[in-house]
Amino acid sequence: SRPIGVAVLGMGNVGTEVVRILTEKAADLQARIGAPLELRGVAVRDLSKERKGVDRALLTDDPMALVQRDDVDLVVELLGGIKPARKLILAALEGGKSVVTANKALMAEHSGELSKAAEDHRVDLYFEAAVAGAIPVIRPLTQSLAGDSVNRVAGIVNGTTNFILSEMAESGAGYGKVLAEAGRLGYAEADPTADVEGYDAASKAAILASIAFHSRVTASEVHREGITGISAKDFDAAKKFDCTIKLLAICERIDVDGEQKISARVYPALVPLDHPLATVNGAFNAVAVEAENAGRLMFYGQGAGGAPTASAVLGDLVMAARNRVFHGRGPLESTYAGLPVASIDEV
Ligand code: HSE
Repeated sequence: SRPIGVAVLGMGNVGTEVVRILTEKAADLQARIGAPLELRGVAVRDLSKERKGVDRALLTDDPMALVQRDDVDLVVELLGGIKPARKLILAALEGGKSVVTANKALMAEHSGELSKAAEDHRVDLYFEAAVAGAIPVIRPLTQSLAGDSVNRVAGIVNGTTNFILSEMAESGAGYGKVLAEAGRLGYAEADPTADVEGYDAASKAAILASIAFHSRVTASEVHREGITGISAKDFDAAKKFDCTIKLLAICERIDVDGEQKISARVYPALVPLDHPLATVNGAFNAVAVEAENAGRLMFYGQGAGGAPTASAVLGDLVMAARNRVFHGRGPLESTYAGLPVASIDEV
């Protein structure tokens, strides 16, 4: 098949890792897709900044021109925020290009408009990386559980605050010092207020509630409390009750006076030490799903950071690329050169 052109918008922690994987794993990705993925350009805000691992000739500070190039088939949006991401994604979808995004703020606010544009133009809009980093949770909810009825989605969906709370619980370390470390490790948002005030988790809760309950929930409809008011004293008090403190996102169907409604909320909560969520530490996330027929499911893994989030982006990218090759099924058996099996003598 002909090469599939990819444009990457944004080269922060995640973008840098996406470009690295696209380059290093080009042969593997081609084998899985059935066509090569070719990087056409990377849009950055500051062209003068030193960038490792990318040919300078691929860099541009004009993302709209890149998105609209004829030889771009797939657009990976990793800029974050609403402006200019929304316009760029709309331009891509309207131009017949599939889009992969990690942008939770945008998906929490404008998923209706963006999904409609994708449907109208018969292209894909994938956003696995927008919620809980590496953890597959969007695809399980939208596909694997599409025939079930989800009643509750709850868990830890912000790596930065979980890292901060875990460190405070463990060592009694001060809040400010731990937040700086979270930024250094690439977990925190460009403006960490989004993390510590719960906005990031509220966006993710809105996305989860929307897809789990086939509804439209925006971030402003999510009750939100952050962790800035939590101190060492709170952890001392929690310990007395054999609990720790976690920032939880809870989305559930509730009954209000006989009427079915959705409740979505984010707040620091006491979690008993023997509860599975109490052992989720550092930048790890965990999401528990309760569905009518499946029962309880748990998803656990790295919820923030460049490489883990890039893993989710690449998964979406392979899916979107496959949808353009071999009717979405990936390469035919006869064209797929997988690894040979070792004989028993060799192992
Ligand atoms: N700042 C986010 C977090 C990144 O800490 O969870 C992943 O969405």
